[in-house]
Amino acid sequence: MSVTAESPSLVETVAGLSVEQLAQEFGTPLYVYDAAVIAERIAELAAFDVVRFAQKACSNLAVLDLVRRHGGMVDAVSAGEIHRALRAGYQPGFHEPPQIVYTADIFDRQALDMVAELEIPVNCGSPDMIDQYGARCPGRGITLRVNPGFGHGHSQKTNTGGQQSKHGIWHEQLGECVERAAKSNVSIAGLHMHIGSGTDLEHLSQVCGAMEKAALSIGDSIHSISAGGGLSTPYRAGDKRVDVAAYYELWNATRKKLADAFGHPVSLEIEPGRYLSAESGALIAEIRAVKRMGDNLFYVVDAGFNNLARPILYGAYHPMAICPAGGPRGSVGEKHDVIIGGPLCESGDIFTQEEGGFVQARPLPPAEVGDYLIIGCAGAYGAVMGSNYNSKPLAAEVLVEDGQAHLVRERQSLDDLVRGERIPGE
Ligand code: LLP
Repeated sequence: MSVTAESPSLVETVAGLSVEQLAQEFGTPLYVYDAAVIAERIAELAAFDVVRFAQKACSNLAVLDLVRRHGGMVDAVSAGEIHRALRAGYQPGFHEPPQIVYTADIFDRQALDMVAELEIPVNCGSPDMIDQYGARCPGRGITLRVNPGFGHGHSQKTNTGGQQSKHGIWHEQLGECVERAAKSNVSIAGLHMHIGSGTDLEHLSQVCGAMEKAALSIGDSIHSISAGGGLSTPYRAGDKRVDVAAYYELWNATRKKLADAFGHPVSLEIEPGRYLSAESGALIAEIRAVKRMGDNLFYVVDAGFNNLARPILYGAYHPMAICPAGGPRGSVGEKHDVIIGGPLCESGDIFTQEEGGFVQARPLPPAEVGDYLIIGCAGAYGAVMGSNYNSKPLAAEVLVEDGQAHLVRERQSLDDLVRGERIPGE
């Protein structure tokens, strides 16, 4: 296990290995993923015909390879993600089920070339994609991503349904899309709905009815339905785990109604990102300064929002723990309120903040320079949203499988930071 919502605030290991040894061997900031957690989450969803990993959550090649070895298929939202899927051993082509699906609201030119030439099935999130695809790939089947008219997410920024969202095809335009597809000589073989990320069972369940209605309006060309992603995971102590069995039952009932209506089997997909990888990942940082600002105590660490952007973007809460360098010291259970900051030259570089940028103190054990801070539940939308802001190299990533730590991404070098840049005339 990694550092999760219910972990103690003093730890010595992540994924069963010593934090101090990992930090010494690979340096900090360091992402560590526990392969066993990802494998366990895939297994929990085994009732679905297809578990398709939304790789945007954690697209390291080693993680994709792990998901593939455990039977997961993959979603790609860009030419780059198709490239990653191929490099991780996924096969292109119209298999049943397809191993790679391209889901997006546009084709950029590179992505359209790739899906056409490599035969990657597409899930169209805009009516224009239907014509563009038909012109390049007449005769093929597509799926449509439908915006059912409502959405929900852990933040307004992760709500992907309703009129204010750019995602998907508006549910009232499906009839028009059937005509567009016929004109473009492509068939509509499936439907997909994803209403947002980090949503709850109540909102997710409403999608089943919307899917049934949409699929019946299209008719028996539909052979697959996808529930999208969105399953939340616990970040705070007391957060409830989603009842995946109950969720499956709702979708299975929808699938059965459609299969009965169409007179042929309908395959049921789920497309989780966060659910598979969030709890597997921890970000290890070293505390480099302990300082007071009036009444406030700060630990300033060597990881910032260049490594984990969720707190500054959404006010997201991540569980945190301290690992004292050189083993336990002080009295166990002692805590004080502390604000955790990163190294960036920007005052928003705070890991303990609420949406709106309001800084919050967190009860954590006393710590000294040289101790480690472990930020838990960082395996989804962590490393993938990293940036080079302030010319900080992207962090190293380690995958722990069967007790072995594998370096799966080298820390960027300073030369990596300037690769591709040119001074005119030189
Ligand atoms: N399918 C589609 C079409 C999506 O757009 C997404 C997420 C997923 C599946 C996976 O959603 P999940 O199961 O992970 O909730 N950066 C934000 C999350 C953005 C999600 C974008 N789309 C965060 O850190 O919370």
